[in-house]
Amino acid sequence: MSSDTSDKNASDNESSQSLQGQEIAKKYTPHPLPPVPEGMSKSQWKKVWRRKRWEETKEEFSQKRREKKVRAKLSRRAKIQEYKDRGEEIPEELCRKPRKNTTQLDSGIKIVIDCAFDDLMNEKEVISLSNQITRAYSFNKRENHHAHVTVTSFDKRLKERFERDLKDSRFYDWKNFEFTGDSQLPVENTVYLTADTDETLESLEPGTTYIVGGIVDKNRHKLLCYNKARELGIPTRKLPLAQYINLTGREVLTSTHVIQLMLRYFDNRDWKEAFEAILPPRKLEEVAKSLEVGVEDSAADGTSKSTSENACDLEDSIDATSAIEAVVDVPKK
Ligand SMILES: C[S@@+](CC[C@H](N)C(=O)[O-])C[C@H]1O[C@@H](n2cnc3c(N)ncnc32)[C@H](O)[C@@H]1O
Repeated sequence: MSSDTSDKNASDNESSQSLQGQEIAKKYTPHPLPPVPEGMSKSQWKKVWRRKRWEETKEEFSQKRREKKVRAKLSRRAKIQEYKDRGEEIPEELCRKPRKNTTQLDSGIKIVIDCAFDDLMNEKEVISLSNQITRAYSFNKRENHHAHVTVTSFDKRLKERFERDLKDSRFYDWKNFEFTGDSQLPVENTVYLTADTDETLESLEPGTTYIVGGIVDKNRHKLLCYNKARELGIPTRKLPLAQYINLTGREVLTSTHVIQLMLRYFDNRDWKEAFEAILPPRKLEEVAKSLEVGVEDSAADGTSKSTSENACDLEDSIDATSAIEAVVDVPKK
């Protein structure tokens, strides 16, 4: 294809895409909320209405998303072809990482995601947890080592969310992943991971089961997993973050990142390497900075909040791939 033709195709493509975008935007412009039915609060009705709207439009939305994916794929292929035609090296950003790592090794550890905390989360947090579980599955497929992962207490809203909205992912067939409604946790050769303990996890040992709390709580429920583990007589450990990153205090990560870190650890059995790869210092500095700004801003406008509430704001304001669930007690520089 000549570059003139491809430029023209690209510009045709762009204008047709922007037209489509306008159509979609028109369609998805929020509908005014119909009158609240008797016996329902406004916020209950908003939820019901939003779900109804979603049910009505989700098929169309999925179709648009599929089309967008196909367009992106074709455009990427066309770009690669242009580089090939010119005999140039294909830039790294166009080379996709394979979805599945075919030379993966078994780490020998088991991971349990303890999801017994449904009642302590709001709807949004249950959705966030379900997305974290799908990301954990994806890491478990792509990292150089995998673990056997069991999601326990898979019932209530989490199960509903998977069965209703994520059924296309065929999660019951995921390799090295198991879902069970059982809430029973193993206790033999088991360690419960929690940021709330004083004991540090020095290494990961094959043959051991590591339990990760399956909860998104933005630090509302401190000591939750720690107390549960103690009641069950399961030893607790925290990741050795403080030894390698420049933050003090409790560092609460998301369940997914704890899992990714554990898998990455097996590359060279080296925590430092894993932290540096997955928790870039830049990201951690950003987190520390925004936390301090948040504290100052709220103090300045007289809406002073507790540190954990600021940590919640922080989690909402940083990008979705951030590893940090909450950071408290960040020292002043
Ligand atoms: C968002 S945290 C949940 C925080 C919750 N309040 C609790 O009591 O654990 C999700 C899970 O990730 C794991 N986790 C997070 N940060 C950790 C750390 N620094 N060390 C070890 N495990 C951690 C724990 O298993 C934790 O339950």
